[in-house]
Amino acid sequence: MDFTKKMLRDNALADKVIVVTGGGSGLGKAMTKYFMELGAKVAITSRDLEKLKNTAKELETETGGICLPLQCDVRHYDQVEAMLQATLKEFGKVDVLLNNAAGNFIAPTERLSANAFDTIIDIVLKGSKNCTLAFGKHWIDSKQESSTILNIVTTYAWTGSAYVVPSATAKAGVLAMTRSLAVEWAKYGIRSNAIAPGPFPTKGAWDRLLPGDLAEKFDMAKKVPLKRVGDHQELANLAAYLVSDFSAYMNGEVVTIDGGEWLKGAGQFNLLEAIPEEMWDHLEALIKAKKNK
Ligand code: COA
Repeated sequence: MDFTKKMLRDNALADKVIVVTGGGSGLGKAMTKYFMELGAKVAITSRDLEKLKNTAKELETETGGICLPLQCDVRHYDQVEAMLQATLKEFGKVDVLLNNAAGNFIAPTERLSANAFDTIIDIVLKGSKNCTLAFGKHWIDSKQESSTILNIVTTYAWTGSAYVVPSATAKAGVLAMTRSLAVEWAKYGIRSNAIAPGPFPTKGAWDRLLPGDLAEKFDMAKKVPLKRVGDHQELANLAAYLVSDFSAYMNGEVVTIDGGEWLKGAGQFNLLEAIPEEMWDHLEALIKAKKNK
């Protein structure tokens, strides 16, 4: 099976202008590349302009598409507004906001300073709010016929997760915002959806979430029923579908793409997977023996 294949037809995103926050590296970069291959014009944003410029140049060479690097710290509303105006100046319009920028690190919660907690909330929740509000107001004021917000959350947005509590708290907020606005802003032609990815290794996230030899100790692939981590193209395929007109009737949805990872942790008897096949005859006999008494 080849899960690195590209899903949509050529030019599926022609005429779309897409803003990808945190688009300079990792999953944001992978999604940006595929959007460009499908004909979209993409603005990528982050705090690090040099990194963005290098990424934009690399992706333009690889895809023949157009990529605009824009410095923007999503924590600051004035910078988000300036980023929106720069996108409009360059491309004349914007169709899609992809809230991908995130911040995270592992720590026991009692070790966090108030500022450490705030830092993650500010990037993830306040950053997504800043972009959503600025772009939403623009789309409503300009009476744009259709537009899309796509938020990258995580499966622990609804389960919660120990040791990444600020991130879990913030992502839960982003998920609530996704579902709330899907209803409230539908009348303006604005769709809101989310993707909850499981493990899709990137250097940035893995260095923070599995530092040192933790990556070897905790093999994420073992936690996944499908016994592997995700390929970036699989995520890019889903994101491209959700920002395209093919998903025009999807609104307020969160699509999990994790190989079954979170459900494996949730099902009460999932641990019975550890029982070897040959033991089931014996167990069945024990159960039936009880029944017959
Ligand atoms: N454990 C405990 N506290 C930590 C920490 C850790 N591993 N890393 C940072 N902090 C604290 C800092 O000490 C500081 O608190 P203080 O002022 O009370 O000392 C606070 O968090 C902010 O850290 P700072 O480095 O000043 O913030 P920043 O804005 O420069 O960086 C981060 C933000 C910490 C999220 C950084 O990892 C980052 O830039 N990440 C972006 C990319 C990313 O996280 N990608 C992965 C997404 S899954």
